[in-house]
Amino acid sequence: RSPYASARIVSIDAGAARALPGVIAVLTHADVPQNALRMELPGRMAEATAGAVLATQPVLAEGRVRFQGEPVVAIAAETPEIAAEAADLVRVEYEPLPGVYDPIEALKPGAPHVHEGGNLLRAWHIRKGDIADGFKRAEVVVERTYRTPFVDHLYLETETGIGWIDAEGALVLRVSTQVLEHYRDVAEVLRLPHGRVRIEGAYLGGGFGGKEDVTVECLLGLLVWKTRRPVQLVFSREESFIGHGKRHPYVLRYKTGATKSGELVAMEAELISDSGAYAALSPWVLLYSLVTATGPYRVPHVKVDAFTVYTNNPIASAYRTFGSIQTCVAYEGQMDALAHALGMDPLELREKNFLRKGDSIATGQVLESEPMLGETMRRAWEALGPVRAGEGPIRIARGLAASFTPYGRMCWTRDSASAWVGMELDGTAVVRCAAPDVGGGQTSSLCSITAEVLGLAVEHVTAVGRDSHFTPRAGTTTATRQLLMSGNAVLKAAREVRRHLADQAAEMLEAAPDDIELADGRAMVRGSPDRAVAFPALVKAATAAGRPVQALDKYDAPSAPTIDPATGQGKPFNDYTFGTQAVEVEVDEETGQTRVTKLAACYDIGQAINRQSAEGQIEGGAIQGLGHALLEEVILEDGISKNPHLLDYKIPTTLDAPPIVTILLESGQGLGPFGAKGIGEPAMTPTPAAVMNAVSRAAGAPVTQFPLTAERVLAAIKHPSPPAGETPG
Ligand code: MOS
Repeated sequence: RSPYASARIVSIDAGAARALPGVIAVLTHADVPQNALRMELPGRMAEATAGAVLATQPVLAEGRVRFQGEPVVAIAAETPEIAAEAADLVRVEYEPLPGVYDPIEALKPGAPHVHEGGNLLRAWHIRKGDIADGFKRAEVVVERTYRTPFVDHLYLETETGIGWIDAEGALVLRVSTQVLEHYRDVAEVLRLPHGRVRIEGAYLGGGFGGKEDVTVECLLGLLVWKTRRPVQLVFSREESFIGHGKRHPYVLRYKTGATKSGELVAMEAELISDSGAYAALSPWVLLYSLVTATGPYRVPHVKVDAFTVYTNNPIASAYRTFGSIQTCVAYEGQMDALAHALGMDPLELREKNFLRKGDSIATGQVLESEPMLGETMRRAWEALGPVRAGEGPIRIARGLAASFTPYGRMCWTRDSASAWVGMELDGTAVVRCAAPDVGGGQTSSLCSITAEVLGLAVEHVTAVGRDSHFTPRAGTTTATRQLLMSGNAVLKAAREVRRHLADQAAEMLEAAPDDIELADGRAMVRGSPDRAVAFPALVKAATAAGRPVQALDKYDAPSAPTIDPATGQGKPFNDYTFGTQAVEVEVDEETGQTRVTKLAACYDIGQAINRQSAEGQIEGGAIQGLGHALLEEVILEDGISKNPHLLDYKIPTTLDAPPIVTILLESGQGLGPFGAKGIGEPAMTPTPAAVMNAVSRAAGAPVTQFPLTAERVLAAIKHPSPPAGETPG
């Protein structure tokens, strides 16, 4: 991997490495049949921004490296130790080039270009109402700038996989991934027919968006294909830190205006995100930021300009919440700032402005169901319990953040998922669905849905495989989409199987199909439980009668045209998950040290499919969010990581976790099975903002740069003057 953030590759001499006993292959870009992945934009967006530079990362660097850790040479050897020795023997001559390490600097004329064509990767905009008019109506205006850093996913399991060529000549990769469809990328890189590459999705030791892009797949596939031998590839922790996409750092400049009675009238925001050296998913992450920029509030006049910019920093890409955690920091920071400026209770201010059913978000999309924001806010706040007084140097304060996160992909992607459900002769059921399980309970939810529909104990439903060859395609486990997508596909397929079983039972029990109930592994006539047939007999009879006892079905998410690229107006997502988190913090006024002592979360999740799993998502998301708030930052000096290891990059452990109260509302209004919404990403969205608001209150001054380190908090305590710009309008 490149030790430089920006350099020309003058030469690569692999001779000595190749000669080392035990080395099987030393590969460079010259060995990669097609050294780039494809990236596509939906039609209207592509047309509107023609000419933008969508630079995808090569599998192995060719002529130039653009970030520290960019892969240059891939080595396979008999042992990891020999491979490491061989890596030391590879002579790569680099000529360092000027780089650019700050997105705002990168946009200035004369900045070094990361790619030919300039450093602006993508811009999106919202124009709603009349912003000048809106600010004319404003009686109070607050302006603040918020900053968030590069953050690592830090799954316990680093990127990993094993690969081999099977008896039929297919390249098989068993990898830790959120996206089985990466088999297509591997096939294109190797110029193989897509069907020649098979990806088997192992249960993950964490993904959080970091295993949404290709990680080991192409390198592993290349090594297996070239060596014709089984290969294992595991990123070390250090490699993982420098080698995979991070959370985007953002600079968020906000100006928010309200009337004296606290009615929001105008919001203007400029968002600048650091994409790092390649595009990865930056344009889409930025789009989530755009859509969520005004938060779960009614704002009649909106102007948002959002930019994502190339630098020679690490690649930034997907990370749980996908761009909506940064905007939450800003819009919720603004709500507290506004409440302060108005002398109003922050909860009352929020309540006044929360989106309600029938209101439109900043893109003009009208909400078709009630977001229940007021209830999520009040319940989370009350769950913090009685207020305690601080003692000695300890100040105690509370803060909260309401949030708004899409579940499911953008409408114009015409998303779909397929699933197969079938009965075995022993009366148990099988689900086949290629939805990667990232530890969020994806597979067990599919089993629960099947069990519910077929009247089986969940133990009698088996999920078989997550495999691009042998299970129906369900798409990526990203975007909080799997419960919605594969959940609905399984629901449809299970209902079809149920219909066949009911028809068969109706015949056997001499009743109308509508009178058949399935429960406890038996079909029975409603009201006469003694007229029943057990599933093993029922399935055998159905099979003998030539009746299908299986179904392959597909769920298509509702679709809509792309939003207007100039104004952002349109319907970007089908639905959103709304919720609030509230925290209590202790801040030591002598050291600036912060401890979170309590956290309460309340969300409308539509319907809990597995209550423990939903609560687990919220607890995990919140603790991950506490890491963002207080601890985590990839520290860079001119693109070089200073803390690519767990010694200096700390995440919360169980010892740092406060007591967490989770309150689940079940409105039944979601688009998922049984009215469920998604919770995987929304679980994390409001945590850093809630902590920031609590810490700022304890400090007596806003702390707006993450992480909220002791140094930053102490500085705010010592200089508690409000930032410039926070004046009546
Ligand atoms: Mo994601 S951050 O859509 O896995």
